[in-house]
Amino acid sequence: MRVLGIESSCDETSAAVVRGPVERPTLDSLVILSQDVHRLFGGVVPEIASREHLTAIVPVAERALADAGIDASQVDGIAVTHAPGLVGALLVGVSFAKALGAALQKPVIGVHHMEGHLFATALEHPDAAPPFTALLVSGGHTMLLDVEAWGRYRLLGATRDDAAGEAFDKTAKLLGLPYPGGRHIEELARSGDPGRVRFPRPMLHGGQRLGDADYYDVSFSGLKTAVLLAVRASQDLDAERAHIARGFQDALIETLVAKTMRAARAHGRTRIVLGGGVACNGALVAAARSAAAELGAQVFAPTPRLATDNAAMIAAAGLFRLGNGERDDATLNAFSTRPIPGLVEGLSPATPLPFPRC
Ligand code: KG4
Ligand code: ZN
Repeated sequence: MRVLGIESSCDETSAAVVRGPVERPTLDSLVILSQDVHRLFGGVVPEIASREHLTAIVPVAERALADAGIDASQVDGIAVTHAPGLVGALLVGVSFAKALGAALQKPVIGVHHMEGHLFATALEHPDAAPPFTALLVSGGHTMLLDVEAWGRYRLLGATRDDAAGEAFDKTAKLLGLPYPGGRHIEELARSGDPGRVRFPRPMLHGGQRLGDADYYDVSFSGLKTAVLLAVRASQDLDAERAHIARGFQDALIETLVAKTMRAARAHGRTRIVLGGGVACNGALVAAARSAAAELGAQVFAPTPRLATDNAAMIAAAGLFRLGNGERDDATLNAFSTRPIPGLVEGLSPATPLPFPRC
């Protein structure tokens, strides 16, 4: 089965062709057009994003098909992000996919953007397959999931306020760095002294027990305020900027990694999959790898092209859903928020790993 994926939930217009089987998908092409215009405004302007998608969607999809060496009639189905995201932006992709599907008489499936992020890593690492613990960290979402099988997800924890990427972007703004700020913070933090500026680890302490509401959840708005106070208190921001960036990044990473290890341990998972734009962060990946080594677990992280928003992950998730016989009809709509599909409740039957508490 060959699927054309379309992604337009935020500020990337992307199309890709992915070929099955689901267990070993092949990426035939991937085109990503990033809308640089938003840098001027320090954040994504929804109306501009929609208009940019509208002008880009046809040439981007044509290019993805050409790169895959096929024409549109040779795809077996079309997968499109329909939630969550900016509704006006999503509608461009959804309308395009529905029109193309109708014209070609091919099935169309709406894909949840975060389910797409779950599938991204498997495109590069066939072993990044369920069961695994997943940490999804993007600009809009932070989710800790137990993935028992494709399509069966336990949502263990999420952010109570800012997403991890949002915390990076806002901290970058406070430090006078460009948008989006994640990679700039990472770069600056490399020259910062660890421990010179120490921020509290948000919602992380040894007294937390499995079953506590804050055992897996994270919260980054307090950390952002702590950065703001540090910036205000600084006598010489130029000299301290890198130390503040390092302090922020260390606090955020330690929190995310500790909670991810709790999840892997509690569910007996020996594979941990990272996804979303913040998974580009080398310090996060290194910290996750070293903590996972203590559990005897392996960490899989996508390369930046597949970690950040792209249509290949949407095509891969669509390959799974279309392969299951799922289809959407002409009523397929776009939604700004929507729970990830396939949520199951409770602890998995797996045996916890016999390792010390994190
Ligand atoms: O997944 P993504 O491309 O878009 C959303 O679905 O939101 O994630 C974008 C986020 C931005 O907040 C960006 O600052 C962050 O990923 N990011 C990073 C790095 N590269 C991108 N955060 C930390 N370190 C990085 N190297
Ligand atoms: Zn995303």
